[in-house]
Amino acid sequence: MSTDPRFLDAACYHAAPGFMQHLEGELPAPYRRDGDLLTVMGPARAAYWTRNVWIRPFTLEFDSISDAARALRGMQRNWAPYPTRLARRTTLIAEALPPLSGKPRSFPFDAPSAPMGAFTLLDERTMLASAACSSPWPNGEFAFVEDKEGPPSRAYRKLWEALVMAGSRPSPGQRCLDAGASPGGWTWALAGLGAEVVAVDRAPLDDSVAKLPGVTFLKHNAFTLKPGDIGPVDWLFSDVICYPPALFDWVTMWIESGMARNFICTVKMQGKEWDRPTVEHFASIRGSRILHLWHNKHELTWMLVPAMEG
Ligand SMILES: C[S@@+](CC[C@H](N)C(=O)[O-])C[C@H]1O[C@@H](n2cnc3c(N)ncnc32)[C@H](O)[C@@H]1O
Repeated sequence: MSTDPRFLDAACYHAAPGFMQHLEGELPAPYRRDGDLLTVMGPARAAYWTRNVWIRPFTLEFDSISDAARALRGMQRNWAPYPTRLARRTTLIAEALPPLSGKPRSFPFDAPSAPMGAFTLLDERTMLASAACSSPWPNGEFAFVEDKEGPPSRAYRKLWEALVMAGSRPSPGQRCLDAGASPGGWTWALAGLGAEVVAVDRAPLDDSVAKLPGVTFLKHNAFTLKPGDIGPVDWLFSDVICYPPALFDWVTMWIESGMARNFICTVKMQGKEWDRPTVEHFASIRGSRILHLWHNKHELTWMLVPAMEG
């Protein structure tokens, strides 16, 4: 039996956990569905509610577990198993491959540059796989060493993930605006990088964060503050709970002011639906990108970080 890959004119979209319905609404009818993986004909297209996109999928027929592992290993080192059926056999193939470095790392760190592939079994002797995937993490899962003591909320996890994905982070002494800062997870993370943080919220910061060096708190509606009220910032962050168009208008005002260089904002969806038109407005801002991070729930993360462009 041949173990040559047969490339498909398709891409496979692995839904973000809990958001299959949103993903289905974004894509044309799939050619097939395997677990939370939708195979859609044609080149990879923009889809926001994914944990990972298999960009150049192929099928591979094989006789034995070792054949399957040999064929994958011949293409590249890293392969994440996604068991949709035949879980035991999928695991045996994964065990015959080089181990993925499973050890969570301590922030800050850089995203790996080595490609991460993914595979699933369609039947005992056929796999669907892709060497090229949109996420550098196995099945999009961002693992790191959590800090369960320092931050007053778990929101810091999505900021760390966003900064790793942006490939850039505030340097010591850089000035950051953190809008919607309370209770202070993001401010805690930014102060931990040595940045100066202006934290704005209508609710107070946790005391442990308010007294960190470099942190200034402003009790205010972030959206009624003009860039001139704050002054130039190196980084603008927002985790404000609001309707996406309100965030878009505020961000546009900051971009036009030229007073902020880097932006990372969560675009939070209200109710069960998502605001596709506003997400597309954000996506059309030149040089920016939108991701559903592993630590995002019913929200997307928009980032405009000039260092990530090239
Ligand atoms: C998800 S929480 C932020 C969590 C925070 N990033 C952290 O790491 O702890 C959203 C915050 O937005 C704040 N908020 C909502 N509307 C706001 C507004 N117009 N201006 C400032 N803060 C606002 C809320 O008070 C709330 O603290």
